[in-house]
Amino acid sequence: MLGATVASGVLHAGCSSEDGGGGNGIPVAGTNVRDVPVGFLGSAGARTLLGRDAAGLYAMTSICTHNGCDLLTFGALGDSGLSCNCHGSGFSRTGEAIRGPAFKPLQHLRVGVAADGTITVDTNTPVDATVRTPVP
Ligand code: FES
Repeated sequence: MLGATVASGVLHAGCSSEDGGGGNGIPVAGTNVRDVPVGFLGSAGARTLLGRDAAGLYAMTSICTHNGCDLLTFGALGDSGLSCNCHGSGFSRTGEAIRGPAFKPLQHLRVGVAADGTITVDTNTPVDATVRTPVP
């Protein structure tokens, strides 16, 4: 099963298209770190994005900081990052606002990796945009 939401707002990364994500060219994240290559950015469940760069994993909300459109439904992913189709805002692959009308970045969220590689995103725990979870 993919996209299970558990108590306290912790999401297991990965979801089906029925529970958010996967549209508009935004891929769906795997549930295990071995399925999330460096350079990946995609849906990690409802209202959540998961990415991986050279330093590790990061997650952030998919809710546009301009007026609250969900990028998983109303956005698109391109080479330069995420675009919000509601009013044209743009965000880098790490959530920085790079084109208005949005001027605030996407909020980053804590990511955990279990010993078996299973990824969880704690949607109740915001973190600084520079935080990465190392990949074991
Ligand atoms: S809600 Fe995203 S640009 Fe307005």
